[in-house]
Amino acid sequence: MPANRPNLPSALQWCPSKPIPNSMIQSDLDLFGPQPQRLASHTVLLPGFALAEIEALLDALRPVLRAAPFRHMHTPGGLRMAVGLTNCGTLGWVSDEHGYRYSPSDPLSGKPWPALPPVLLELAARAAAMAGFDGFVPDACLVNHYLPGTRLSLHQDRDEQDFGQPIVSVSLGLPAVFLFGGLQRADKTQRIPLNHGDVLVWGGEDRLRFHGVLPIKPGVHPRLGERRINLTLRKAGG
Ligand code: SIN
Ligand code: FE2
Repeated sequence: MPANRPNLPSALQWCPSKPIPNSMIQSDLDLFGPQPQRLASHTVLLPGFALAEIEALLDALRPVLRAAPFRHMHTPGGLRMAVGLTNCGTLGWVSDEHGYRYSPSDPLSGKPWPALPPVLLELAARAAAMAGFDGFVPDACLVNHYLPGTRLSLHQDRDEQDFGQPIVSVSLGLPAVFLFGGLQRADKTQRIPLNHGDVLVWGGEDRLRFHGVLPIKPGVHPRLGERRINLTLRKAGG
C-alpha cells in the first residue's frame, strides 16, 4: 500500500487480496445494525435506536419511578386498566371518572410529575428528526408497564393539543407485538414486533391511527426481568 494513502475510516482500510466471502459481507453489514424501516408515509421504526443509551436511560428512569410509582388507573367507565402507568414531564396523562386528560400534577402525590430526563428529551428529538419531524420538544412522557399477559386495546392518542406533533415510542424489556391500524377502529392492522431498545415514531397523516399491543408473551428479559416498559413521548400542551 502506498505510504501516502489517505486517512480512511478503519473499516475501509482493510484491502483484501481475495474475494470477500458472503458470510463476511453479511457480518460486515451487521456492524451497522438493522436499518430504519418506513412502515407508513409518516411512520418509521428505528430498530435498536435506544440501545446505545440504554443504561443512561434506565438510570434516569429510576428516580422518576421512585417519585411517581406505577399505578393502575381507572377508565372513565370505572374499569381498572391492566397496564400500570406513570408519567414524567410538565404534563402527565391521567384517566379517572372525569375522563382522559393531561394533568400537571400526579394525582397520587398532588405534586408536579418528575421532570423529563434530558437523555430522554434528546433521544426523542433525534428519533423524531430521523422520521422527518425536526424540532420535536416533548413536554410529556407516559411510562407504561406491562406484565406477561397484559395487553393494550386499540385506541387513538388524541388528548394532545397539537396533532401536528409526532409520537415517539421507546420499547424496553420483553418483546411486544404492536398493532398499527388505520384512522377507523375497524381498519386492518399491521403487526409490528417491538424489541428492547426499538423506537417507533408516528406523526403527520399517521398521527391518529388506531394502535394497541397484543398480550405480552411470558418471558424473562435479561435486563428488565418479567416486564415490558414503554415510554411514549408527546407534545401534549399548546
Ligand atoms: C401507547 O399506545 O400508549 C403505548 C404503546 C406501547 O406500549 O407500545
Ligand atoms: Fe397510544
